[in-house]
Amino acid sequence: MRATTAVAAVGAFAHTVASASVQAKNFIYVVPDGYGQSSQTMARDLKSLVDSGNPASRPGEIPPLAADELVVGLVRTYAANNLITDSAASGTAFAAGYKSNNGMIGVIPDGRPVGSILEAAKVAGMRTGLVVTSTINHATPAVYAAHTDSRGNLDTIAEHEVGYNHPLGAVVDILLGGGRCSFYPQDHDDSCRSDDLDLWAYAEEQNFTIARNREEFDSLDQGLGGARLPILGLFNDGDLRYEIDRRVTQDEPSLIEMAETALNTLHRATHCKDKGFFIMIEASRIDHAGHANDPAAHAADTLMYNDLLNYLRGWIDEHPDTVMMSAADHECGGLTLNGFNPLPLNGSSHSGEHLQQLWRGRPSSADPRQFLVSELLPLSGVRNPTEAEINTLLSASNVGSELVSLLSSRAGVNWSTGGHTASDITLFAYAASNQINALKADLAGNHENTELPRYIEEVLGLDMDAVTQVLQAAAEEDEAWLGKRGIDVRDEHIHSH
Ligand SMILES: *[C@@H]1O[C@H](CO)[C@@H](O)[C@H](O)[C@H]1NC(C)=O
Ligand SMILES: *[C@@H]1O[C@H](CO)[C@@H](O)[C@H](O)[C@H]1NC(C)=O
Ligand SMILES: *[C@@H]1O[C@H](CO)[C@@H](O)[C@H](O)[C@H]1NC(C)=O
Ligand SMILES: [Zn+2]
Repeated sequence: MRATTAVAAVGAFAHTVASASVQAKNFIYVVPDGYGQSSQTMARDLKSLVDSGNPASRPGEIPPLAADELVVGLVRTYAANNLITDSAASGTAFAAGYKSNNGMIGVIPDGRPVGSILEAAKVAGMRTGLVVTSTINHATPAVYAAHTDSRGNLDTIAEHEVGYNHPLGAVVDILLGGGRCSFYPQDHDDSCRSDDLDLWAYAEEQNFTIARNREEFDSLDQGLGGARLPILGLFNDGDLRYEIDRRVTQDEPSLIEMAETALNTLHRATHCKDKGFFIMIEASRIDHAGHANDPAAHAADTLMYNDLLNYLRGWIDEHPDTVMMSAADHECGGLTLNGFNPLPLNGSSHSGEHLQQLWRGRPSSADPRQFLVSELLPLSGVRNPTEAEINTLLSASNVGSELVSLLSSRAGVNWSTGGHTASDITLFAYAASNQINALKADLAGNHENTELPRYIEEVLGLDMDAVTQVLQAAAEEDEAWLGKRGIDVRDEHIHSH
């Protein structure tokens, strides 16, 4: 599995992104983690079949989703040490402009830190944000504000994200997502830290506005009320729910709700100033559903990503000094649409992960077969199971996984892996009418992921190299702030997200 082909001299390739003929005050970068071209096709066809209301006949015309209208190019994703990247290496490339090894967060293979576009924005006096549906210290948000040689170094990443032990202090003005547990000291019931540091208390001392549940999120008033930056809002100890589960419970904010709150807050803080904002918004769990080979959860998070792009397009039309770019970090799952009929996915109201939780939590008095047939199957989208399928489910080590596997075959889709793939991914971009043609001309083509932040740098007039120098000088003086070295050196693209 392991591709160890050396990918040397990655900085030496010719630039394929034109130098920027676009200028902007604000920049929105969107990462649909683990999203590939088949993700988009499956989501589009599913929505079209459901909306047509006539599943017996295929719709004559399949309407495009928001992302379909914003395609400008392709992106190559390989890591410095592996043809198949993980989110850490890919993130370091599109946040800081350097290829690195899988697992590495904001550092190059020799361990030296490199400055991100978000850090360059902050240093230049802009406001900044990170909005995700994973834990906030997961690899993709981490690469913008943390520097450590392992994505598994979750304690250090959480510290850096609120400015603790970061040479530049707090570089992120608004952080929204999951991952509360890394901010509690280890003696707290909900803690997942391995030390006594209380990052919630630290953030409060630094005057962060804190939100730790749906009610406290709602009191941010979509960013239109009095809430002041900086803001730390985390709404689950782990990842936020898959959209397919969240929309049933509504107990956590959606990705769009968080994006809206962050954009309004950043806009209120900058609209009468010269300097604008940079924000990274991640539809994080498209990837997790790919790892789980869960087609309904994958499609629901992909549709949410498209809804988000549609929302952002409207926001940019109203705020034409803003430019948006979006690209996945890599494909995940090797989703193949053969024997394809996505309509059965419409019958699923929950992820396999949630179904497995229900299964494990079933009353001890419940008859397993009866519970499976009357409680789980109706939620799973798997209709008319055969006796053999029911028996397979009852003997499965993970009933939720087995259900989504059955649903995949009902929908005629195959997955080729529980990990990432090396496929190129799609680049999307949007600007208001006066700049959109120039933006498309600049970005047409197939690009290295490392070129993307260099383009943003030009659009916003920033200097990432200056930040890199400051960080490397701080590391030469004392590298303790980079956290423990060399922990968790697994082959990340296979075993983790
Ligand atoms: C899709 O699911 C919804 C909710 O269960 C249902 O009301 C609708 O009839 C389904 N649509 C199709 C085309 O099957
Ligand atoms: C927090 O706010 C208080 C009151 O406005 C102020 O005195 C203090 O300097 C602030 N602390 C930091 C770290 O900004
Ligand atoms: C792939 O999907 C097709 C259609 O659902 C199915 O017949 C086939 O068995 C699947 N192949 C694998 C390897 O899962
Ligand atoms: Zn992944």
